[in-house]
Amino acid sequence: MNDYFRINGTTAVVTGGANGLGYEYAKALLKQNLKVIICDINENEVQLAIGNLKEFGHIFGDVVNVTSEFEVSNWVKKIVIEHGRVDYLVNNAGVVQRKTIAEMDGTEWDRVMDVNVKGTFLCSKYFAEEMVNQRSGKIINVSSIAGRKAMDLRLAYCTSKASIEHFTRTLARELGASNIRVNAIAPGYISTRMNEDMRNDPIIYGDVVNSIPLGDFGSSDDLIGTLLFLISSASDYITGQTIFVDGGVITA
Ligand SMILES: NC(=O)c1ccc[n+]([C@@H]2O[C@H](COP(=O)([O-])OP(=O)(O)OC[C@H]3O[C@@H](n4cnc5c(N)ncnc54)[C@H](O)[C@@H]3O)[C@@H](O)[C@H]2O)c1
Repeated sequence: MNDYFRINGTTAVVTGGANGLGYEYAKALLKQNLKVIICDINENEVQLAIGNLKEFGHIFGDVVNVTSEFEVSNWVKKIVIEHGRVDYLVNNAGVVQRKTIAEMDGTEWDRVMDVNVKGTFLCSKYFAEEMVNQRSGKIINVSSIAGRKAMDLRLAYCTSKASIEHFTRTLARELGASNIRVNAIAPGYISTRMNEDMRNDPIIYGDVVNSIPLGDFGSSDDLIGTLLFLISSASDYITGQTIFVDGGVITA
């Protein structure tokens, strides 16, 4: 029988991989025998994550702020020297901001757009240079239900994630001829520290759960199958798509 879900590459990069979903993506990729390189902004958190992920395989990590073109371009050079290639890039680093337009100033707007959109652009740009040379690669961006659905108090976040969806489509067109796929995962309400405050407030928690057709927050495990699908040969003829893993939230 055909091995439809074959993973042909050897090396994966996950941004924002020291915590939350990025950490879980890194663990899942290590379990597929891939060499995994994470980055994050806090040295202690990067070292802690590497220490905890070691038991699952070959994990490496660096302190890199994805909003810095200097740091990202040097990081890519270092990875290519040390590891030779990058087959999969998961643009996971992200921040959320819950404020009304009146409460938010331009600096806060820039912070969300810089991490979520510019960071995805910079990592895609510099890793894609290597993927173009290799004539292979898969870029997986991280959007959100907030990219499709207007959500209260998340003006910058919703705008940034909608940008990721269109960035994904547009970059997929540009890189298709170089044999590079660009897709996105759009998680719904997944339990992580990003939404701990919502889960700790019984009224908000109740409202959110009522809006989810499948009845509860998801877990990081719910995203892993889609991630592995997107790096495997099963998705070789798919590019420019955003896959919602959201318990049905955007149907509402
Ligand atoms: N948790 C959810 O329910 C949910 C839902 C939809 C989408 N998402 C998206 O999933 C991704 C991960 O979210 P999470 O819930 O794991 O959040 P998290 O806060 O637990 O993890 C995000 C990680 O990104 C890192 N990071 C932030 N700014 C960075 C920068 N400038 N450079 C490098 N790293 C940086 C953080 O330090 C952190 O380790 C984000 O893109 C988020 O928007 C999460």
